Amino acid sequence: MQKTKLPNVMRERLLRAARKVMKNAYAPFSNFKVGAAILTSKGQVFVGCNVENASYGMTNCAERTAIFSAIAKDGPKLEIEAVAVTNDHGTPCSPCGACRQVIYEFGPRAIVFYQGKKGPKQSLITDLLPEGFRFK
Ligand code: THU
Repeated sequence: MQKTKLPNVMRERLLRAARKVMKNAYAPFSNFKVGAAILTSKGQVFVGCNVENASYGMTNCAERTAIFSAIAKDGPKLEIEAVAVTNDHGTPCSPCGACRQVIYEFGPRAIVFYQGKKGPKQSLITDLLPEGFRFK
């Protein structure tokens, strides 16, 4: 059965971590700072922020930064249970298409929270990315 609920304390912990790391974002081109936190199946939390570049396409989103740091720290057996994303405009922006595919790779059942002014919205990654790509 697909888990569609995360305890509120855990959701708040992830959103808090995302808001904190958002302050480290390097976003001089868009002025849109993003923070992300992922919860792994081992109960660990990893964070990331967006890192832009003058060559715009080289920008790395907050979600992918968090996922790549988790793997750099603990190796490739990453299982993502949940992701929280915040931005400094208070708009409930869900992860971009590229990040959805990367989340899906390590968390095909992940729950995604994205914070707006009126509180967090929630979606399953499979609702954000139906028929995500995988070899099997
Ligand atoms: N951004 C993210 O960090 N995550 C997303 O899911 C969408 C967009 C960043 C990329 C860029 O630095 C800024 O937000 C504006 O697009």
